[in-house]
Amino acid sequence: MQILETSRLILRELGPDDTDAIARVLSDPETMRFYPAPYDRAGVEDWIARNLGRYAHDGHGRWAMILKAGGELIGDCGLTVQNVDGTDEIEIGYHVRRDLWGHGLATEAARACRDYGFAHLSVGRVISLIRPANLPSRRVAEKNGMAAWKEVMWHNLPHLLYAIRREEAGNK
Ligand SMILES: CC(C)(COP(=O)(O)OP(=O)(O)OC[C@H]1O[C@@H](n2cnc3c(N)ncnc32)[C@H](O)[C@@H]1OP(=O)(O)O)[C@@H](O)C(=O)NCCC(=O)NCCS
Repeated sequence: MQILETSRLILRELGPDDTDAIARVLSDPETMRFYPAPYDRAGVEDWIARNLGRYAHDGHGRWAMILKAGGELIGDCGLTVQNVDGTDEIEIGYHVRRDLWGHGLATEAARACRDYGFAHLSVGRVISLIRPANLPSRRVAEKNGMAAWKEVMWHNLPHLLYAIRREEAGNK
């Protein structure tokens, strides 16, 4: 199911047939350097299954990022529920295949997800959880209109909690 369209991208729900393409992203050591480890095949399959569960339970999750030119799956972006310090937040997350970094694709997808979140979910803010050393991801959050709000421990690692409030999003 297609969820969003931007000038260069389609975001649609993931399925088991996407395993090979998303593995090129999630199993790449450089792409996953801020995670405990790159995902092996079973990890990628679990990740897709978790997102199918999120679509069913929450109505949203990480979606496949498809380049309109050529129709290839080149990453993921989407909205997931994350519990931070005891509060459920809506997080925007993203991964882009490494050969396509630096073309503004994550920013384009993240902005569309931010606008979708405020249009479809009754939340006052959306967030991104980012390791402090992950400068490209922090830059995407800034270009998405977010500001670093506080540092939190999340999955036992320090993360910056970036956020944008609903009333700020109209002008970004
Ligand atoms: C983070 C990620 C999704 C960004 O994707 P992308 O499509 O390249 O992002 P964009 O092109 O929209 O923007 C990247 C920005 O980071 C900047 N950047 C890249 N490397 C940087 C660095 N070392 N230091 C500071 N800024 C950097 C780019 O210059 C660009 O900013 P600009 O437009 O102001 O020049 C991609 O790097 C990725 O997949 N990383 C690995 C997965 C990951 O860490 N995901 C986020 C987890 S929180």
